[in-house]
Amino acid sequence: MKIAREIALKIKNAEDIVVISHIDADGITAGSIAARSLERLGKNFRIEFVKQLDARIIGNLKDENPQLVWFTDLGSGMLHEMYGLNAVITDHHVPSASQVVLPREKRKNLSTFFDALNKTEILQLNPHLFNKDGAVDISGSGTTYLVARELDRRNVDLSALAIVGAIGDMQDTEYLKLVGTNRILLREAKENGYIDYFMDARFFGRETRPVYKMLQYSTDPILPTITGDEKAAMRFLRELGIPLKRESWRRWIDLTIEERKLILSELVKLILRMGYGHELASRLIGEVYILSHEERGTPLRDAKEFATLLNACGRYRQAFIGYQVCLGDRDEYYKRALSMLSRHRRNLVEGINFVKEIGLIKREYLQYFHAGSNINENIVGIVASMILSEEGKEQLPIIAFANSEDGNIKVSVRSPRVLVNQGVDFSIIMKEASAMVGGYGGGHNIAAGASIPPGKEEEFIDIVEKMLQKQLEGANSRIS
Ligand code: C5P
Ligand code: C5P
Ligand code: ZN
Repeated sequence: MKIAREIALKIKNAEDIVVISHIDADGITAGSIAARSLERLGKNFRIEFVKQLDARIIGNLKDENPQLVWFTDLGSGMLHEMYGLNAVITDHHVPSASQVVLPREKRKNLSTFFDALNKTEILQLNPHLFNKDGAVDISGSGTTYLVARELDRRNVDLSALAIVGAIGDMQDTEYLKLVGTNRILLREAKENGYIDYFMDARFFGRETRPVYKMLQYSTDPILPTITGDEKAAMRFLRELGIPLKRESWRRWIDLTIEERKLILSELVKLILRMGYGHELASRLIGEVYILSHEERGTPLRDAKEFATLLNACGRYRQAFIGYQVCLGDRDEYYKRALSMLSRHRRNLVEGINFVKEIGLIKREYLQYFHAGSNINENIVGIVASMILSEEGKEQLPIIAFANSEDGNIKVSVRSPRVLVNQGVDFSIIMKEASAMVGGYGGGHNIAAGASIPPGKEEEFIDIVEKMLQKQLEGANSRIS
């Protein structure tokens, strides 16, 4: 790909590089891919993981003035702020502009105009610039990998991390497998022996969780009468004659093929019998991704579990721990990552329970909740995702509010796929609605977020609902 080669060339020509990446699983894998490639080139670099790329961070980078900044899994949404930087971007978020915009004061006279223009050179690799959907086609770690493989053929060993990043961003959830450009990376990872993939149960925890727990915690799909009920999960397995324990609790990977088939076919029957329909039942099985070089039965073996381990670090300001694990640490950092993982799991369960307690407020086109300080702003989006996938068919998008440590209100939104297919785009809604109340936001059509001033929540919800209604009406008028 031409742009990947151009970016690679620009990186090769720089000596002093700053990598800025995002704190979630995709951001950590993207940053690790960039870092390992720079290490192999023998470059001087430092890496920083940020929650959100804002004008302040970009301002600091302009002051620091490194030869080159490499933004991974972020950057495109802030392109309009980047005049004066020499940078490359490998991202998949909706770009705010197709090229750098010079601010009005720089455009006033020719000398400041050319000065700013000369200092600014930004190359961007982003699926949106190829008319691809950045929520499913390729992730931030994927675009970063496309550049890494142009830098050095040895970087093909980083292909597994690109798959973990895509899974971390849930790019397999629509088609129950990776598609588009991700598929090209996947084949490359498989051909070189880094990833294996096949059809199996899509449950989280195939490698590490006792089977009854895996079923008890399943939210995609929700298992009627089983999800959320430990005793019911155990009973279900016992009634099928499946021993729960040998020397230790049996995991999905410990079961025989016959046992796995029996469980899946009984779950299909259960879902249909309870009236949840074929579509939900079809979500039981999908493609799963195995990191062939990782030890069996560990959270690093299955891409979904690996990604969760990384989120468990990054979303609690410890991205560096996950980064070290991606680069190969299986000692001190790995241990710390494992303990972050158990805390993360507890927080998610508590978060979901909290929302169930306070209840979602339903409006005509959307539903929302305000977690205040009860759910960490960095995981409130994951909680919203999990609740949405639990809800079954008649879903409305979920808007979640949480107090942010900077005094503002964090907004996360997750949309049902059907609405996106009808033309809804929450990256636009978040960007425009937040700007109208003095905040900022963006993201993807299906999953987006914003930061708004406290006290503006009600006004914001009204604006979001109107915009959503308009997008839906626009879609309907196009169809009719
Ligand atoms: O910032 P970033 O692009 O990495 O975040 C993407 C977010 O979108 C993730 O939290 C991911 O879980 C969410 N997502 C989702 N459903 C999809 C695709 C992405 O909830 N189908
Ligand atoms: O934090 P959360 O997982 O809900 O973020 C969902 C998506 O919205 C991510 O892609 C994130 O980068 C984006 N987002 C944004 N601006 C914000 C908050 C989130 O673009 N202020
Ligand atoms: Zn991403």
